[in-house]
Amino acid sequence: MNDTTRDSSQLILALSKGRIFDDTLPLLAAAGIEVLENPETSRKLILATNDPGIRVLIVRATDVPTYVQHGAADFGVAGKDVLLEHGGEGLYQPIDLKIACCRMSVAVNAGFDYDNAVRQGARLRVATKFVHTAREHFAKKGVHVDLIKLYGSMELAPLVGLSDAIVDVVSTGGTLRANNLVEVEKIMEISSRLVVNQAALKLKRERLQPILDAFERASKQQQ
Ligand code: ATP
Ligand code: PRP
Ligand code: MG
Repeated sequence: MNDTTRDSSQLILALSKGRIFDDTLPLLAAAGIEVLENPETSRKLILATNDPGIRVLIVRATDVPTYVQHGAADFGVAGKDVLLEHGGEGLYQPIDLKIACCRMSVAVNAGFDYDNAVRQGARLRVATKFVHTAREHFAKKGVHVDLIKLYGSMELAPLVGLSDAIVDVVSTGGTLRANNLVEVEKIMEISSRLVVNQAALKLKRERLQPILDAFERASKQQQ
């Protein structure tokens, strides 16, 4: 599976369950590809499609770049947030698919005066899954931070005194509101990108290019 030269007619696509899988389905349909099983109901991790030459791997969102980098998958779909943490090594990122759109933000407890803490040069405890992005953001601002790595439910950290702030993705703001947190700074807009293994792009170009073209056309139409 990890040798991209093995069979240039076979293509492996890495997707995560949930919003990325759901939002990629219409793009696949535009390329004439239909996934034959539903990852929400099947326990299978390798899914067949209507094209015997294309299979879909179901992996954790944060693992998509790793599978593609090492050639275990030829291409995949991953959020910009995930790609920035991974670093993008060995990946070609030809298309912003404009799916799973959200923003990366700093949020704090409703009562916490973030601007004042920053002005005073306070050292902030920041809980996040996105340590690289957070480190870079606060370094640019000249704010000293102690980063606390979490793997999910970041919104809990300020509520129980684990941190002063969080860096997380925000879409409707509903999760922040439900936990009495406020967004105090937007770091960047986030959307999901198509990522392609660099070797596969050369060796499997003939098979990949029509799919990349269809994805590009369909993602433009969706905007
Ligand atoms: P894991 O299951 O490994 O913890 P995850 O929670 O990051 O992963 P998803 O929630 O499916 O997995 O998120 C996939 C991508 O979708 C993220 O990398 C991000 O780019 C985007 N995303 C995350 N949350 C939202 C949201 N609420 N609205 C829109 N897009 C989102
Ligand atoms: C994501 C993210 C936030 C929430 C933001 O969680 O981690 O908690 O969405 O979206 P909102 O602004 O619309 O509330 P997700 O739904 O992916 O759940 P998860 O904790 O299982 O990742
Ligand atoms: Mg999530």
